[in-house]
Amino acid sequence: MCGIIGYVGAEASDRPLAVVMEALSRLQYRGYDSAGVVVVGEAGLAHAKKAGKLDALEGELAARPLQTASCAVGHTRWATHGGPTDRNAHPHLSQDESVAVVHNGILENHATLRQELRAEGVEFASETDTEVAAHLLARAYRDLGNLPDAMRAVARRLEGAFTLLAVAADNPKEVVGARRTSPLVVGLGQGENFLGSDVAAFIAHTNRALELGQDQVVTITPTSVSVTDFAGNPAPTREFTVDWDASAAVKGGFATFMDKEIHDQPDAVRDTLLGRTTPQGRLQLDELRIEESLLRSVDKIIVVACGTAAYAGHVAKYAIEHWCRIPVEVELAHEFRYRDPIVTVKTLVVAISQSGETMDTIQAIRHAREQGAKVVAVVNTMGSTIARESDAALYTHAGPEVAVASTKAFLAQITATYLLGLYLAQLRGVMFADEIRGVLEELDLMPAKIQEVINSEGEIRALAERMKDTRSVLFLGRHVGFPVALEGALKLKELAYIHAEGFAAGELKHGPIALIEDGQPVFVVVPSPRGRDVLHDKVLSNIQEVRARGALTLVVAERGDRAVLEHAERVFWVPQTPTLLAPLVAVVPLQIFACALAGAKGLDVDQPRNLAKSVTVE
Ligand code: M6R
Repeated sequence: MCGIIGYVGAEASDRPLAVVMEALSRLQYRGYDSAGVVVVGEAGLAHAKKAGKLDALEGELAARPLQTASCAVGHTRWATHGGPTDRNAHPHLSQDESVAVVHNGILENHATLRQELRAEGVEFASETDTEVAAHLLARAYRDLGNLPDAMRAVARRLEGAFTLLAVAADNPKEVVGARRTSPLVVGLGQGENFLGSDVAAFIAHTNRALELGQDQVVTITPTSVSVTDFAGNPAPTREFTVDWDASAAVKGGFATFMDKEIHDQPDAVRDTLLGRTTPQGRLQLDELRIEESLLRSVDKIIVVACGTAAYAGHVAKYAIEHWCRIPVEVELAHEFRYRDPIVTVKTLVVAISQSGETMDTIQAIRHAREQGAKVVAVVNTMGSTIARESDAALYTHAGPEVAVASTKAFLAQITATYLLGLYLAQLRGVMFADEIRGVLEELDLMPAKIQEVINSEGEIRALAERMKDTRSVLFLGRHVGFPVALEGALKLKELAYIHAEGFAAGELKHGPIALIEDGQPVFVVVPSPRGRDVLHDKVLSNIQEVRARGALTLVVAERGDRAVLEHAERVFWVPQTPTLLAPLVAVVPLQIFACALAGAKGLDVDQPRNLAKSVTVE
């Protein structure tokens, strides 16, 4: 949460502020409660900060322009300690205005530090945990005489998770960062350098980036980057090239990022499949650098993830258990970490995350590895903490996902876990080669099928428009349709602020059916009639149960399934698809419905209230 950007260039100019403001517009998806900037020029520090979205800060800067500068730092906030007000916005300056800091994370010992500083006469200007870091840093800077040493001294005193960036009033050619658990990457420019909470911060200027490790301090000047641990010892770094450019993170003619990202889905699935099979149709996952003997001996898989990524894990469970005959548990990462789970060296943990920075998932990974399990990350963001801290990373190639509500990353995650399942089946010899080839051929057809669903979006958009005053919507599914129902409900909740619940269709009669009254809209995800007939027929019975009680049934069904017609007020057709792969098409109408309904209500589809794209606090 919170987006951070730091920039340093050779000459004093308007560029630092322009770079930082452009970066904040890209980083807003990480949090948008307030935004602020600080620049360092001839006259020392100058800053501006405002509650609200970035346009409030833009207005402030138009009214009161800042001096030219050679370095600048910016922040967009998702509030934790202290409400979303002007004074709690970052940057925070020390009382003597010698240093300014921005922060992402939570300083868990801020109360003790605050007391200590108050006893020394420091007056606090905000209710944030961050402000203690500004005052501590000013004190250390006075004592030690340089900002990197001062930052290391402060970092050693802080508990919790943090990325901190700092500048000093008397040094316009240096930005110093520190990270523990929260994300920070370096962008390598020519005669200029960058720090960002993710590569989106500087992708318009460079695609060369450096990963930073845990507990490291980085100092950038126009021509140098140096990285140490908190004790001051030089630390190793790894350079990587970002494989997308700034054009991938613009709306490209769509009204919202979410609209664009829904339309990106065929490519997200295609790119995730690309280059992972040999010409002979054998799966080859080069990134899976875990000894084959270990993967053969795995006796349990635990998927850890949160939100939409966890629903991708639910789909994976059905597929991997069916193909590999290995038991798969799916666990919300925050529950896994704190319930003393049974994990052994034979457990394979699969951590799924778009951002690669979800703190709950990071903690789950750490816990699993401490117990001796191997962790495979299914992750979209190169160089992210989850990718680095796992034993292997199987990348989804969805490209940058900017809208807070996940869409294309979900489809890419499902696709990657299919590949993982088929790879394990191949390795363990539990499926015939031609069976695996058959599934891979079906997977290759999925981008075109997803496109077909997107092409028919008009109908579902029209329905959403008509339903904009709806107060509650239920979603039902069985088997892989169940996680699809859960995802459909989550999309509607987070985008349209409508009460929505997803249920396993069979569970309805055990209680939730009491919610059904006349006119209650119920989406039902119907499995293929060509697959396991029993499943299909059971869902038709479930539709009848709710319909008999007055529900308005809105059905997602496979084209040609004439049996559904008599049970549904409306049918949204998706192409014929093998049951296990069906979530890739069945969820698309539900995404479009939520996006269109939120739009019809005049809501901010890309930045729903109270949410942030990357949840870097527990
Ligand atoms: O970056 P991650 O995939 O780890 O994020 C996990 C969840 O926070 C995320 O999927 C969240 O539920 C989205 N808002 C869903 O649209």
